[in-house]
Amino acid sequence: MVDIKYIGHSAFQITNGDKAVLVDPWVDKNKSYDWKKEPITDILLTHAHGDHLGNTVDIAKSKDITVTAVAELASYLAKDGVKTKSIGLGSWINYSWGRAVFVPAFHSSSLPDGTYGGVAAGIIFDIDGVRIYHAGDTCLTGEMKTIKELYAPQVALLPIGGNYTMDVEHAAMAAKWLGVRTVIPMHYGTFTEIQADLQRFAQLVAFGNTACQIVNPVSDESNAKK
Ligand code: NI
Ligand code: MN
Repeated sequence: MVDIKYIGHSAFQITNGDKAVLVDPWVDKNKSYDWKKEPITDILLTHAHGDHLGNTVDIAKSKDITVTAVAELASYLAKDGVKTKSIGLGSWINYSWGRAVFVPAFHSSSLPDGTYGGVAAGIIFDIDGVRIYHAGDTCLTGEMKTIKELYAPQVALLPIGGNYTMDVEHAAMAAKWLGVRTVIPMHYGTFTEIQADLQRFAQLVAFGNTACQIVNPVSDESNAKK
């Protein structure tokens, strides 16, 4: 069974049986999440910005696992002693838990020290027939119509906080273009400039894609105040 766990900001753990992949693991703000206890076999990064790189180096070194990222970001991490798999956009990569393909995101990417991080990406996961699109940081782009045609994801993890990425209006259009059944909003509430109106998002999604439900794993406390 495929389980999607939202950790906070853009960090997700996707678990398939006794294996799990961690995406954009900025996880140390979520006190209820303990990566040491999780069966993580891989880390995948959408891009190099600090709020996505997060705790990658600590987790990868401590658990001796491989980080998959575009070439420039992978080589930066390799210099730091992290095991890496260097990739480009556009081909399926096989893992023990399923497969993934990195797709375009319209965004920049640089390391905390200013080093160029290569192109920014989104990631399509294909795990036991479940297709999940992690959009990374991106604006709304016509590429999402191509993603629907090529990959037909059922689930989309979409940034909605605006300022650096899509806002609720653009993310609702993305949900329509992608034709997904489920949206999990991310990348909002964490910084003052990325607040989002979840009620408005729900209204806009319902208007554009009546088959789509929004799953918000953090309706209680955490994300909005982190
Ligand atoms: Ni970013
Ligand atoms: Mn970001």
